[in-house]
Amino acid sequence: MYEIEFYDREKEIREIRAILDTRPTLITFIYGPINSGKTELITRVIEELPREYIVFYINLRGRFISGYKDFLRALFKLEREKEYKEILKRISEVSLKSLRFTGIPITEGILDLFFREKKYEDVFEFLEEYFMRISANKVPVLIVDELQKIGDVRVNTYLIYELFNFFIRLTKELHLAHVFAITSDSLFIERIYSDAMLHERCRYLLVDDFDYETSIKFLDKYGFSAYEKEVAWNCCGGKPVSLVELVNCEDREERARGMFVFRTGEIETRLKLVKELGDEITIGSRRCEVHYDKLVEVLNMFVSRDEIGMNEVDEVSKRYLVRENILFVDPLRKLMKPQSRTTLLAIREVVKNLSKLSEVRRGSDST
Ligand SMILES: Nc1ncnc2c1ncn2[C@@H]1O[C@H](COP(=O)(O)OP(=O)(O)OP(=O)(O)O)[C@@H](O)[C@H]1O
Ligand SMILES: [Mg+2]
Repeated sequence: MYEIEFYDREKEIREIRAILDTRPTLITFIYGPINSGKTELITRVIEELPREYIVFYINLRGRFISGYKDFLRALFKLEREKEYKEILKRISEVSLKSLRFTGIPITEGILDLFFREKKYEDVFEFLEEYFMRISANKVPVLIVDELQKIGDVRVNTYLIYELFNFFIRLTKELHLAHVFAITSDSLFIERIYSDAMLHERCRYLLVDDFDYETSIKFLDKYGFSAYEKEVAWNCCGGKPVSLVELVNCEDREERARGMFVFRTGEIETRLKLVKELGDEITIGSRRCEVHYDKLVEVLNMFVSRDEIGMNEVDEVSKRYLVRENILFVDPLRKLMKPQSRTTLLAIREVVKNLSKLSEVRRGSDST
């Protein structure tokens, strides 16, 4: 069994460190396809921060957030039997290494008060003061992972906008804390990117799957033969999670081919369901019908290309394929591509099978 070490990401780590080395001015959105290694990357960066940094890492994965109270529970970490002053003193004190919290530590009394008052305004005002105090001795870093989970939460106003206002206060206006927001929901990033409120107030950092060279070097470390490396790349591409999976399995070729066949089956089933039962998606307040033929038309475009322009296809098919984790939109480059190389190759296989099927049908119709 190999112990898998964190690999590469030197460029991304340099970029994040450079951000952390300067005064906070912008919100940083870290985005990328599913399972590309965003969380792993930020975790690595946090682990190696100098001691003056204090990190509040809030991961919304697995959290059910439908309103104000759920959000507070995710944001804060209760420090029972402690006074507010004690908490602040402990986290602002000069320590031997950088501190990390998986929520913002507060007292039970304050949380109870917020529960009763039910106003985001009070919470964010309190937090502003909180970060102000800490920043006298430390550099606070606030990270919210899986931010899209609160994209549609609404209590009078949309929570996400309240939160963005708070992030803008912390960065551009007060320069109090570094703010990182992470998501693999590319429709959410697209929405943010086109939002006037965030214009020139944030920057974007793409964490993509490993490229060919990086993947091959990674596999070299774990003794893959030339043949195994080619099979791995041709079936799994540079998706870190899949490469890690291959490292420790007995038959690497079989597993890699299995992943490809599985993905092909998933896409085929998805299309079959739309063809036979139809499907709908909601855009704004409108329910829009998904058309099988249009989906196939979009997938066909990937037969000869790895990426396509994000506006080359109809909006319903685009959103549907992104929602179903088949495609990924990169609004910064205005491009769309499959969520992984496995998906790209699977799409090609599906399209090939569909055209073979229709040839057979045409043949039997003409006899
Ligand atoms: N740089 C890396 N070196 C080694 N393994 C990695 C690396 N990045 C990711 N991995 C592996 O891939 C797995 C998935 O990574 P991670 O959870 O960070 O992806 P993610 O982009 O945050 O996923 P999601 O889109 O679900 O949020 C990790 O658990 C780890 O095993
Ligand atoms: Mg993640």
